[in-house]
Amino acid sequence: MTRPVIGWEQETPIPTYKFNDFLIAREGHLYFESLDLAQLFIGGKENQGLGQVMSSPLEIIYLPKIRQKIEQMNRIFAEVITEVGYQGQFYYAYASKANTAEEIVRTTLGTGAHHEMSSAVDVDIVRLMILAGHLPPERLVMANGYKATGTEYANKLIQLKHIHDNLIPIVEDFAELPALIESELQFEVGLRQKSYGQHQTQAEMDVANSRFGLTVSDIRQAAKMIAVAPNLRLKLYHAMIGSQITNKDDFVSGLKPTIEIYAQLRQHHPDLSIFNFGGGIPVAMTLNFHFDYHAFVRLLLTTFQEICSHYRVPVPDIMGEFGRYTTAEHGAHLFRVVGVKDNGSDLPWYIIDGSIMTSFPDSWALGEHFVVLPLTHLDKPFQQVQLGGITCDSDDVYPPASSQTSLYLPLETNDLYIGFFCVGAYQEMLGGVRGSKHCVLPEATELIIDQASDGQYQFQILPGQTTKDVLDNLGYSVDK
Ligand SMILES: Cc1ncc(COP(=O)(O)O)c(C=O)c1O
Repeated sequence: MTRPVIGWEQETPIPTYKFNDFLIAREGHLYFESLDLAQLFIGGKENQGLGQVMSSPLEIIYLPKIRQKIEQMNRIFAEVITEVGYQGQFYYAYASKANTAEEIVRTTLGTGAHHEMSSAVDVDIVRLMILAGHLPPERLVMANGYKATGTEYANKLIQLKHIHDNLIPIVEDFAELPALIESELQFEVGLRQKSYGQHQTQAEMDVANSRFGLTVSDIRQAAKMIAVAPNLRLKLYHAMIGSQITNKDDFVSGLKPTIEIYAQLRQHHPDLSIFNFGGGIPVAMTLNFHFDYHAFVRLLLTTFQEICSHYRVPVPDIMGEFGRYTTAEHGAHLFRVVGVKDNGSDLPWYIIDGSIMTSFPDSWALGEHFVVLPLTHLDKPFQQVQLGGITCDSDDVYPPASSQTSLYLPLETNDLYIGFFCVGAYQEMLGGVRGSKHCVLPEATELIIDQASDGQYQFQILPGQTTKDVLDNLGYSVDK
């Protein structure tokens, strides 16, 4: 496996330089597209329309990136569909568990995405989006997750169906069917295959230790039960094989056994028309990542053409539930280096004014890498360092303890700000929003950034937690 590149890897200053398609070094400052990140803290250029300087730590929510990602994937599928003469359409659904914040869900829906959800509270979010006019009737809403008859989630789905007809419950256990049948409402439903993991055969999928989905024989039996239920129609087949699958051949070969099952089911169930591969589409969280999305989609669609032609069934419409791909790049977390500790460790410790482990739990839980770059002093010499969070936890460090990757930051630490980038997927939801954090650190202020059609930036500030918020939350009454 190649060593992840997370930032600048030399002692020399950074000239004008493009790290990727949105992070650019220019005259000593780091830009997110055309937003000067250093100026958010040190001011200048009339504060870029913000009207004030911000203090650190600061969380950045850059909404234009979400739109770009959805539009990019829709464009790629449209191009390849024409190129290979594919007789089906593409549905982009947003897997909302990656980041369920209102501004994110509103932005994905505003860009035309369909919606995937997985819990009872998600149903209330969908209801609120419908009421606010963000989720129009023609948009598909897929309900994944365990929703046995009688649970709150199952009951809420039945209620939701009354106000949103295009609701597709994706059944992953027999216990989910009675609620749907007994509702007597006309439901189009999906079936989820037990397919999580890199399996080359149906037999391997069946014996894998995965809690998601139904085995091959159970899928066939459930399809028969749906066929005889007067109010259900089998519309969608769901097969997800993993997360952040970085090799296109592995991705498509892992899906092949499920495409065969789809084709066999389609021979007996003519209403079946959507193949949903779930999540797994990778996205860059480091600087040396490359995935050819065009080549992946071409391979995927031609594989469907081959297998469906073999089984003499029409090719399906293709759906993906894009979580990490939609949200990873829009989110960044900016900190100030508040001190340097040289205590005889291998490398100097740069201490930041926040926590790495609570802001990006995957960095310590899974050893995940994210991009880290300075926002100021990019035109000055660098040195190899390690980062320490401000909690007193030995795991609150970066790069992750197991990492072979090196991190370089400027030698000049006066007014040194740094950013963690590509952290917009899952990290905030795993770390929790509000509430109490490790070592009682208050939550950072959020800056939501959007762009008007003339390119002008628009800002919304969501204040972080105060000390009183933290104390109240833990049951201390400050007023007493
Ligand atoms: C059912 C389902 N769909 C989609 C996703 C999103 O996956 P990803 O973030 O890899 O796009 C997940 C993630 O766990 C999932 O469980």
